[in-house]
Amino acid sequence: MAQLDVLQPKKEEFTMLVIVKNNYDLLSKEAAKLVADRLRKKPNLVLGLATGSSPLGLYKELIRMHKDEGLDFSKVTTFNLDEYVGLPPTHDQSYHYFMHENLFKHINLDVRHIHVPQGMAKDIDAFCAWYEQRIVECGGIDLQVLGIGGNGHIAFNEPGSSLGSRTRIKTLTGTTRVDNARFFKSKEEVPRYAITMGVGTIMDAKELLLLANKTSKSDAVKSAVEGPITAMCPASIIQMHRSAFVFVDKDAASKLTGTYNDTWESKIFE
Ligand code: GLP
Repeated sequence: MAQLDVLQPKKEEFTMLVIVKNNYDLLSKEAAKLVADRLRKKPNLVLGLATGSSPLGLYKELIRMHKDEGLDFSKVTTFNLDEYVGLPPTHDQSYHYFMHENLFKHINLDVRHIHVPQGMAKDIDAFCAWYEQRIVECGGIDLQVLGIGGNGHIAFNEPGSSLGSRTRIKTLTGTTRVDNARFFKSKEEVPRYAITMGVGTIMDAKELLLLANKTSKSDAVKSAVEGPITAMCPASIIQMHRSAFVFVDKDAASKLTGTYNDTWESKIFE
């Protein structure tokens, strides 16, 4: 048995672990267990956060763990992926507002440890350089939460984005503006630009946790997980990451053909 243990590959030797859960609720709880595990092991975790509907269940479960189990965020530092240009933090569609309403105000984060790109920055290039530098000063991102756009984007790195890109201003594609119009009164109100961490910035995180649910994400998930690595599907770069977890529900996984795990906790991988 001892010899077998030596031969069994360990998680660290794998670049990507896909976890398929039956529904969104189970997916969110499984992902929250992973975040809580990392936080308990490293109380001053540097946590990368995402907006959108995909991580809402994860945030809800983390809030529950904070309230019921005392999960402690007091030493955590956070960095958000992106923010619309031109929306003040008080705008109800800004990512500042989203994070405050859906996570920050419910847990014991120190506000001085929260970083969200400043969509109202006067000098956007200088702000982006500062954001990159601040991540480094904080020791780098330990665990980065990600959603995925229907067109394969991560953060606001749209198809065609350089896979080595850093934090910068990006023009949103028509598809993304239409996708996100559901949150605004009309498509015209959706900002045209956003500040976003680059694909290279995201890839520097020590671990990635990508969440996807619903059939509308099945093509993007298929391309990201089983397609060729290409800038036309920025999420496909996660195949090159040293430790990426992809949590998908059955609907988002419906086009995958591989055999995948249903937990990230198993010690032995096939
Ligand atoms: C936006 C965000 C992304 C997010 C994506 C998917 O464009 N910038 O970070 O992953 O939408 O959003 P949702 O989770 O709502 O499908």
